[in-house]
Amino acid sequence: MPTVYLNGQFLPLEAARVPVMDRGFLFGDGVYEVIPVYDRRPFRQEDHLARLRASLDGIRLGDPHSAAEWTALIERIVADAPWDDLGVYLQVTRGPGPRDHAFPRDIRPTVFLMPLELPAPPPALIEHGVAAITAEDTRWSRCDIKATSLLANVLLRQLSVDAGCAETLLIRDGQLMEGSASSVFLVRDGVLLAPPKTPLILPGITYDVVLELAAAAHMPTAIRALSAAELRDADEVWITSSTKEILAVTRLDGKPVGNGEPGPIYRRMIALYQTYKHTVMRGKAAP
Ligand code: PDD
Repeated sequence: MPTVYLNGQFLPLEAARVPVMDRGFLFGDGVYEVIPVYDRRPFRQEDHLARLRASLDGIRLGDPHSAAEWTALIERIVADAPWDDLGVYLQVTRGPGPRDHAFPRDIRPTVFLMPLELPAPPPALIEHGVAAITAEDTRWSRCDIKATSLLANVLLRQLSVDAGCAETLLIRDGQLMEGSASSVFLVRDGVLLAPPKTPLILPGITYDVVLELAAAAHMPTAIRALSAAELRDADEVWITSSTKEILAVTRLDGKPVGNGEPGPIYRRMIALYQTYKHTVMRGKAAP
């Protein structure tokens, strides 16, 4: 049974308990992060902690820990985890208090960390890609906050499960935003395209890694608003996240994307990503 951290204590997962008056339970009033760890080395931890701080700012909750304290907590979760590759799930809620939509005075945040198993994406998915559907983005207008209140994402993701697909790509006012739990990229005429970071999408850490690798490899890239029509006739569509890494979407709403197999730019990027990841794992690059 994995060791988790809850409000100052390390304990077995089944022993961790949160009061029912916790605002995370009552209102989804909290934020979270998922930090991938390869060979027990956190990948891009500083970027994840910076995004956590931005999410906390976004919900007007003070950061309960310094960077050094977060690092020590993450180190212990990683050291005690039963896997070498894992995700560290980290959640901060506004804490328990009388039920009132407005913030109660003098409440203390709840801090929770747990290890998640992080299997490498199956080679067949990298080789052949995944199917996705599109849906109207029903989320709020602060999707840049990595909030635990994920009801719209949950419902949107379930649509793809019901359709036997891996992800739901979200369209708002005719524009492509991201997936229900992933960032999205297109390739058209040899150019890698990504939607800009706005309050309507989560600023993905894997999104940043992909754009850095593309820049280092001098791949033609443009960051601009992308229409649903451009998605429909893109040569390649990719989804990225800390848990999925990079996957090609080879069927969209039941139709093949390009020739129905991962395209040449995807194959180049996944090779660059895997080389970079292995370099980080061997400790030869700053994560
Ligand atoms: N989700 N967009 C959304 C809505 C997401 O939930 C995620 C990741 C991403 C990709 O972000 P990153 O590359 O930093 O993982 C984009 C995580 C993995 C989750 O909720 O489990």
